[in-house]
Amino acid sequence: MSTPPIDDKTIGELREIAARYPEARSGLLPMLHLVQSVQGRITPEGIEACAAILDISPAEVNGVATFYTMYKKHGVGDYHVGVCTNTLCAVMGGDEIFARLKDHLDVGNDEVAVQRQGDSRTVSLEHIECNAACDYAPVVMVNWEFMDNQTPDSAVQMVEALRAGHDVSSTRGPKLCTWREAERVLAGFPDGRVDEGPTAGPASLVGLEIARERGWSAPDAVTTPAVEAEKKAEGSDG
Ligand code: FES
Repeated sequence: MSTPPIDDKTIGELREIAARYPEARSGLLPMLHLVQSVQGRITPEGIEACAAILDISPAEVNGVATFYTMYKKHGVGDYHVGVCTNTLCAVMGGDEIFARLKDHLDVGNDEVAVQRQGDSRTVSLEHIECNAACDYAPVVMVNWEFMDNQTPDSAVQMVEALRAGHDVSSTRGPKLCTWREAERVLAGFPDGRVDEGPTAGPASLVGLEIARERGWSAPDAVTTPAVEAEKKAEGSDG
C-alpha cells in the first residue's frame, strides 16, 4: 500500500492530540498511532512531524517509537495477527498455532505474507507477549482485537477468511477492522463501535461466581497508623 504524506489534516490532528494533555509531550504515544494510521508505519517524516509539534528532538521520538513493539518501522499487513506465545497460551497450544501459521503463511516472525493472486487483503504474523486474556488461552489477536480459545485449524481458517476479504468478527463480538483503522482508534479517534463487544465474558467471571456460591467476600481494607492518622485529619477538617 502507498505511503500518503503527512498532510495539513494530519498535522492538525496531531496538534489536536497534543492539546489534550497538560504536558503536550504526553500525547506522543497516540500521536505515533495516528502516524501509523496514515502511513502504515513509523516513518522519518512522521517522527519529524511529532518532534516539531512537541518541541522535542527526533531522537527522543525515535527512542519511544523503537521501545514499544506496537510501533512498526516496517509495514504490516492489513490484518496484523499476533499469537500469544507467553507461558499459559504456549502450553495451551499457542506455540503450535504460531508454528502452523508461520508454516501456512510462509513467513518469519513479524513479517508480511505474500499477497497471492485473488487475495484482497494482506496478513502479517507476530508472536506476542501475554495480553492479559489468559482465561481464554490460547489467544490470538488481530489488529489488537481478541480471538479467544483458538486452535491451529481455526487460526488458519481465520487468516484465509481475512485474505479473501470476508468479514471476520472477534470472538468477543466486534467486526475486525484494518490495521490503519485500528491505529486511528488507538490515536483517540473513536469509530463508534466501542459497544460492539461484551465487557467481561464468562471465563473472566468464574472466580466471582465461585466466591458468590461459597459466600466469600474481600477482606476489609488494611489499615495502618498512617491511614488512621489521615482519616482523623480528614474528620477534624470537616
Ligand atoms: S499468556 Fe496468553 S494472554 Fe496471558
